[in-house]
Amino acid sequence: MIKAAAPSPVVQAGHPVLRAVAAPVERARLGSKELGALVQKMVAVMRAAPGVGLAAPQIGVGLQLIVLEDAEALMAKLTPPERALRGRVPYPLQVLINPKLRFVGDERATFFEGCLSVKGYMALVERALSVEVTGLDEHGNDVAFTVSGWPARILQHEIDHLNGTLYVDRMMTRTFCCNEEASRWIGLPASETKTKLDVR
Ligand code: CO
Repeated sequence: MIKAAAPSPVVQAGHPVLRAVAAPVERARLGSKELGALVQKMVAVMRAAPGVGLAAPQIGVGLQLIVLEDAEALMAKLTPPERALRGRVPYPLQVLINPKLRFVGDERATFFEGCLSVKGYMALVERALSVEVTGLDEHGNDVAFTVSGWPARILQHEIDHLNGTLYVDRMMTRTFCCNEEASRWIGLPASETKTKLDVR
């Protein structure tokens, strides 16, 4: 029997949970069955979407918890130069709780970005090229690392969700595209897209 696909549990822009500051996960909940189940659910939702990251508020849970994973299959449409330009590399599954993020250096990168909670659109967003992240994993172990390129973009996007911020708050507004039109721009340098769309 073929099972009909369940409706996505990802909440969409307009839901207040996406605009609230998420609460820290209490120490007592780390390593618990209940937290493990929440993490499992988030990973399943992210993979089903498919997406490269998901924050707990996106499934209606106002907790400081994110999951990330970038698999080879998700970047299959990009050419090798496009991958290199974006710094897009496979990134193993990571669970981060109560994360703190700091920019490393002044270098910035501008690329198209979308969000599972703003379905059907994308826009250019300038982000820090490298970030330092500290936090905990789901078992309560300390996590600290520095990362560059696409994973740094995903982390900035997801940690923004924990502060009630969406990429549309940071985007270059005139580059906002329906996915159907974005194919015109996705392979071009951001500067060219900006020139051609930001016409007044
Ligand atoms: Co998002």
